[in-house]
Amino acid sequence: MNEKGVTVSRRDFMRAGVAAGAAIGGLTILGATARGQGKALKAGLVGCGSRGRGAAANFLEAGKFLNTDASIAAIADVYKEPIDKTREWLKQQGTDLPDKACFVGFDAYKKLLDSGVDVVLLATPPVFRPLHFESCVKAGKHVFMEKPVCVDPVGGHRVIAAGEEATKKNLSVVAGTQYRHSKVRLGLRKLVADGVAGSLWGGAVYWCGTLSYVNRREPGWSDTEYLMKNWINFVEMSGDHIIEQHVHNIDVMIWFMGALPSLAVAVGGRARRQTGNQFDFFSVDFQFKSGVHVHSLSRQLNGAWSREAEEFVGDKGIVKSDRILLHSKEKVAIPEVPGHDNAYVQEHVDLIGSILKGKPLNEAQQVAESTLAGIMGRLSAYTGQPVRWVDVSKPEGQFGKLALKPTAEDFETGEVKLPPEAIPVPGKGE
Ligand SMILES: NC(=O)c1ccc[n+]([C@@H]2O[C@H](COP(=O)([O-])OP(=O)(O)OC[C@H]3O[C@@H](n4cnc5c(N)ncnc54)[C@H](O)[C@@H]3O)[C@@H](O)[C@H]2O)c1
Repeated sequence: MNEKGVTVSRRDFMRAGVAAGAAIGGLTILGATARGQGKALKAGLVGCGSRGRGAAANFLEAGKFLNTDASIAAIADVYKEPIDKTREWLKQQGTDLPDKACFVGFDAYKKLLDSGVDVVLLATPPVFRPLHFESCVKAGKHVFMEKPVCVDPVGGHRVIAAGEEATKKNLSVVAGTQYRHSKVRLGLRKLVADGVAGSLWGGAVYWCGTLSYVNRREPGWSDTEYLMKNWINFVEMSGDHIIEQHVHNIDVMIWFMGALPSLAVAVGGRARRQTGNQFDFFSVDFQFKSGVHVHSLSRQLNGAWSREAEEFVGDKGIVKSDRILLHSKEKVAIPEVPGHDNAYVQEHVDLIGSILKGKPLNEAQQVAESTLAGIMGRLSAYTGQPVRWVDVSKPEGQFGKLALKPTAEDFETGEVKLPPEAIPVPGKGE
């Protein structure tokens, strides 16, 4: 970093994108000799919803890509319906799971961990991630975990601590933020590390789209059932869309800037949403120690302008999500990065590759920090106050002990109370 802007060194590039090295290795991570000679890997899926089945498909595809034996050997979900659906889908893929490999209930993940799987794919709503991840590491399992990985600072600290344990146990941990495994973003990031765009002076990251979905409460539903079915609209379950969705781009911001933001000053609000307690939009000014600012804009509003992208401004050019435009007008080719064209699959290629090679890849801290940065923006918008990185990253920080309720543990013990369906009001007074 220099006093003008942010200069990302080659070393930062390799360090900041832990996955980058592995992803760039892509196929070579296994190497010709290791290909197809690894041990069979059995995975268990926790959370059999749309992304869970997607992650399972990506895992199977990665196994084929690496010509190695990778299978889904167990599944777990709170409800039987998604279990039946996933079993049916697996049958179509040629895997007929016996009853004893299918687990139902809030403690289903514990049974899955005892079922002899090597890898666990975590794809439940985010509130469960810290507890499930900790349990996986304790049980000595490699993990693929969907983003975001927590909904509050305490959850973020738990994921970082469990990630450190995973390192001690030589376990691989890959996060579902995708872009650090995307050929195009990796190629662009390499150009930035090589100084092609010069020092980065600022940027903007966006996820502006539509409302995900709404499941209105039906008569007879318990608080638990309502929260589980409409989790995407409750901050206690999803973390709000600034992390549930926009964490992908916040993660790219941190990766490309090669630094964590030190301060967030945000505004946000709600115009349309009718269930839950989240905002419709956030606008966050992320500030870095160097003085550089990156704007983050996230919005879920049907019928409004949509954009999902990242942009960084350097003194030699502008870095867009898929290209670099030099001020000199010279054309820059994005370097070829080996690997699978689909970043969702490449995540699993990197995971499986690192396990078979015995060179663990561990993205726990990286994804926890990206999630915490989003939470820093969310808290600034909710309170109307600037929030510093130390306020969320350290237990002694202003929000360091913030743990939303109900917790994952409450769901297991049945002590779930619906949080108020009221939105935060920033500032005080009229
Ligand atoms: N990387 C991506 O592009 C991407 C895309 C969509 C979703 N996601 C993430 O994936 C996760 C899941 O999202 P989804 O869209 O599949 O949600 P979903 O609601 O479709 O599925 C979640 C499933 O998890 C089950 N579940 C909930 N709590 C559980 C628990 N404690 N134990 C076991 N099973 C449990 C639910 O019953 C449901 O079947 C979320 O974190 C979401 O943010 C990532």
